[in-house]
This record gives sequence, structure tokens and C-alpha cells, in this order.
Amino acid sequence: MSKILITGGAGFIGSHVVRLFVNKYPHYEIYNLDKLTYAGNLENLKDIEASENYNFIKGDIVDQDFVQELFQAHKFDSVIHLAAESHVDRSISNPTEFIFANIVGTVNLLNVAKSIWDEDGNNIFYHVSTDEVYGSLGNEGLFEETTPYDPRSPYSASKASSDHLARAYWHTFNVPIKISNCSNNYGSHQFPEKLIPLMINNIQHNKSLPVYGAGENVRDWLWVVDHARAIDVVFHNGKIGETYNIGGHNEWKNLDLIHLLCDIMDEKLAREEGTSRELITFVKDRAGHDMRYAIDSSKIEKELGWIPSITFEQGLEQTVDWYLENKEWLDRVTSGAYQEYYSAQYQ
Ligand code: NAD
Ligand code: TYD
Repeated sequence: MSKILITGGAGFIGSHVVRLFVNKYPHYEIYNLDKLTYAGNLENLKDIEASENYNFIKGDIVDQDFVQELFQAHKFDSVIHLAAESHVDRSISNPTEFIFANIVGTVNLLNVAKSIWDEDGNNIFYHVSTDEVYGSLGNEGLFEETTPYDPRSPYSASKASSDHLARAYWHTFNVPIKISNCSNNYGSHQFPEKLIPLMINNIQHNKSLPVYGAGENVRDWLWVVDHARAIDVVFHNGKIGETYNIGGHNEWKNLDLIHLLCDIMDEKLAREEGTSRELITFVKDRAGHDMRYAIDSSKIEKELGWIPSITFEQGLEQTVDWYLENKEWLDRVTSGAYQEYYSAQYQ
């Protein structure tokens, strides 16, 4: 029996990771630790919440005493750490919040792992990170595991810092870490402040579609379930102390992607072709907007045999269908209704 603490499990990617681990490994005890911020939502895990091997704990990783007491009480064997503030635009309006959640929160977890785990204990501290730590690419090239860090937003700087700290705890204190750096995820249960669910939500409500700058920036999109599969593979088969890049070989200019989404939505909503594209509005560019992200994921493909399981067309279609079938979810997360409900339930 392995006791695994998954942080941020009520969020977008975390909920997919929790679901995969709870269903695939009934002999593991999964503990989901989440503060339930605006981005975290237990509705995301309704389908597995009654599973015998699943436990939820509401708490804040920034609270050092709480983290220490939790570890003392449960003696987790491993940690898969996803809890973070995750949106670049929010990090521009409130950088300090990102320093606390992403840096101090990670150090609190690393400190307690360092103090509780024996050197031969077969433990894993898996830090889930982003390709944004590598900075911004021009037209050519891909981020490799050896690409020097060059973070440019408060979000990516906070994630770069927590990556460095995880590596420092491995080199200095032998805390058995693994890191993966993944490209932009899309799929069900993503808070509609990120590009794809925001556009789907706005198209549904006939609201304008804000394109930052000229819409020329490029992102490499990966289906969230494929990211969860990659995390499973790295957790079980990746080498201690190593980093793995995860990506979709799927680069899109923002404007091309928004056009595609508009066309899919016109068809799904039986609107006349071109209707949704009329909602596109070019707005002021994001400050310090990274031009292009693209991942070389050959290491995880060659060493661990992971590849994405579906095409972007399939993933996007499934994603659009999910948001259309779950309008109530969208309405509740955007109105803060879930947050109110769950904060009353978990004081
Ligand atoms: P998200 O914002 O959807 O979810 C984050 C979760 O962390 C939420 O449930 C929130 O309640 C929880 N949380 C935040 N602060 C906390 C705290 N102080 N204590 C406890 N819980 C807290 O984020 P996401 O998109 O699912 O990203 C998850 C992780 O994956 C993050 O570490 C992010 O940096 C990384 N990542 C995200 C992407 C992406 O495209 N979304 C890509 C690569 C890596
Ligand atoms: P986002 O989903 O915020 O992810 P990230 O900034 O971490 O890559 O944004 C994806 C891209 O879409 C990014 O280039 C910014 C752009 N964007 C818009 O043009 N309009 C929007 O309303 C949002 C949220 C993002």
C-alpha cells in the first residue's frame, strides 16, 4: 500500500491526475490536498469521491505548521505536487500571491519531506512544472531539458524558482525529486480564464473574444488526460533527480486556434458559418507576452515510451462537447457559486 499526497487535486490538471491514480491504482491511498481557491472545485471529482482509496483534505501549503502536522499524521510515501497559482495574467496583477503559493508552498512541502523521509525509503517528490520556465522562443527551435531557464512572467519566475529549489533539495539533502515541464494543457474542467475555455464560454454567451496583440503568439497544446498519463509514467518509471519535458507536437498561433474554435462552435450551436468569428476583438497585448512555446518531448518518448494518445482535432472536439454539456459547471465557476458552497462546507 502506497500513500500518495497529490496537491492541487481539485484544480484542472490535478483532478485528472487524481482520477487516473484513484481508478488505476486501487491499492494506493490517494490524499488530495487543496485550498479550494477560485480554481479548485470538488465538483471536478464527483465521479470518484466515494472511492475507498480517495481522501480529501482542505488546506493551504503556504501554512508551514499545517503541512508539517499533516505529514506527521499521515506519513505519506510520495508527493505529486501540482498546487499552484497558475494564470499568467493574474501573476501580472498580483505577483506576490504567486511567490507565496508557488515558492513558499513548495519549500514547505520539500522541508517536511526532507525531515520525515529516510534516505532508503523509496519515496518520490514529484514537482509538476511548466515549459514557461524556459522563456520565449523565436520562429525556430524547441525547449529541451537542457535549455537554460529564462522565465519572463511572475508566474514562470515562481515556477522556475520552485523547480530550482526542488533540484537544490535533491543535490543538497537527497530529497528524491522528479520534475516534468509541460506545455499548455486543454480539456475538461479548466477554469474559463485560460484561452480555450474562455473562448468557448464567451462564444456561447455571444461575448467578445479578446485576442491579445495581433494573435500571432504560438502555444503547443496537449490534452490534459495525456498530461496525466505522462505524470503516471514519470512517477512510476522516471529516474530520481531527472527532468522530463512533456508536449503535444501541436503548435498553434492563437488567432488560428480561435478561428478553429469559432468554426467548431458555429457548427455545434447550429449558427451560420462565420457568426462566432465576428466576436473576435483585438485588445491590448499582455505585458511581456512570450511569443512562442514549443516542446521537444523526445526524452520521455524514448526513455519512458509515452506519446500523446489522441489528435488535437479529437481532443478539441471532446473538449468543446464537454463544456457544452456542462454549462452549469461553467456558470457556477464563473459566478463563484462552488467556492461559496465548498467554503461553507469546509471551514
Ligand atoms: P489550476 O489553477 O487549475 O489548479 C491549481 C489548484 O491548486 C487549485 O485546485 C487550487 O485550489 C490549488 N491551490 C492553489 N494554491 C494553493 C495552496 N496555497 N494550497 C493548496 N492548494 C492550492 O492549475 P492547473 O492548470 O491545473 O495547473 C496545475 C499545475 O500544473 C500547476 O503547478 C501548474 O504550474 C502546472 N502546469 C499547468 C499547465 C497548464 O497548461 N495549465 C501546463 C504545465 C504545468
Ligand atoms: P493562457 O491560456 O493564459 O496560457 P499561457 O499564457 O500560460 O500560455 O493563454 C494562451 C495564449 O492565449 C497566450 O498567448 C495569451 C493568449 N490569450 C489571448 O489572446 N486572449 C485571452 O483572453 C487569453 C486568456 C489568452
